[in-house]
Amino acid sequence: DKAGHKHFMAKEIAEQPGVIGDALRHYLNEDGATLNLPQAGLDFKAYDRLTMVACGTAYYACLTAKYWFEQLAGMPVEVDIASEFRYREPPVSDRTAALFVSQSGETADTLAALRYCEGKATKILSVVNVPESSIARESDVALPIFAGTEIGVASTKAFTCQLTVLLLLALKAASDRGEIEATKLKEVLSRLRAIPAVLNTALETNDDFRKAASRLANSDNALFLGRGLMYPLALEGALKLKEISYIHAEAYASGELKHGPIALIDKEMPVVVMAPQDALFGKTVSNMQEVMAREGKVILITDPPGAEAAGEDTWMTLVLPQVDPVLTPIVYAIPAQLLAYHTAVAKGTDVDQPRNLAKSVTVE
Ligand code: F6R
Repeated sequence: DKAGHKHFMAKEIAEQPGVIGDALRHYLNEDGATLNLPQAGLDFKAYDRLTMVACGTAYYACLTAKYWFEQLAGMPVEVDIASEFRYREPPVSDRTAALFVSQSGETADTLAALRYCEGKATKILSVVNVPESSIARESDVALPIFAGTEIGVASTKAFTCQLTVLLLLALKAASDRGEIEATKLKEVLSRLRAIPAVLNTALETNDDFRKAASRLANSDNALFLGRGLMYPLALEGALKLKEISYIHAEAYASGELKHGPIALIDKEMPVVVMAPQDALFGKTVSNMQEVMAREGKVILITDPPGAEAAGEDTWMTLVLPQVDPVLTPIVYAIPAQLLAYHTAVAKGTDVDQPRNLAKSVTVE
């Protein structure tokens, strides 16, 4: 049942404020100000490092979480693609916690990577949407994300629920390791509790993205740029676009532009720049100007102060609500999804069942 939406993907995008609210209710105490993560033996003081492993969109959720664990908890983190990790056979010490992220909980490479860590890592954790799945069953601690059934092949609400649970885990790590004060934790949690309302506001940009997509749909290629926490979001935006609209899209860390991809910029090349006004904004704006100086078509996705500072020379500027920089990944998932969705609709592709893709990849 698409609940009045044209596609499951549209329904699942719209469900995000609600399901993130469900996850928050589950993982926060009733006071809303303290974490409720009593899972047996989950103590980040006991681990020297965290190794995170996943595929596709779940891998991008892990890349985002690396910034959170490092910045909030001062914890060394490695992130790996499951199909690489399992065959590289990396050393895993008994002071390592291994964390596997998977919507389905059945992805063959991720499950194989988990089994490789059995008996090596001190703790096997997973963040899954399907609590009865193989990955959940084979973990020491499995944390459900409460996204509900995801039918659209392109992952949307599972991604933002993964981000939410991973941020809560990073905050738990910060708290276990004495890296965050109780008042600061309370403040971040209260901002996080406001995120469902912020996402509702972000979803009101739907028509802006429909218009932007009707122009983007005429392109054969697109680049996505982001810095810091926005780099994994740029990767996710490019993946969503190629999966469902079949436009060739690549993402780069903004600072990598001049190390090669700038050669691709001409007047035919749309460049999606994801850049809320944060500490790194000025640097991203200068990358954007390098694109515009070569007639590249910049689609800037930012917040009101960012739009003001960037001026009017972009091809399009799309404005989202402003939030605490630490929470921007959850909010900027919405434009990544809406841009891809409306571009696919404009091109008339099969949004919920894109060619060649399966919802759950149980063979390698
Ligand atoms: C992207 C997408 C895939 C999955 C990947 C991992 O929209 O759906 O990239 O994210 O196949 O799947 P799970 O999370 O089930 O392990």
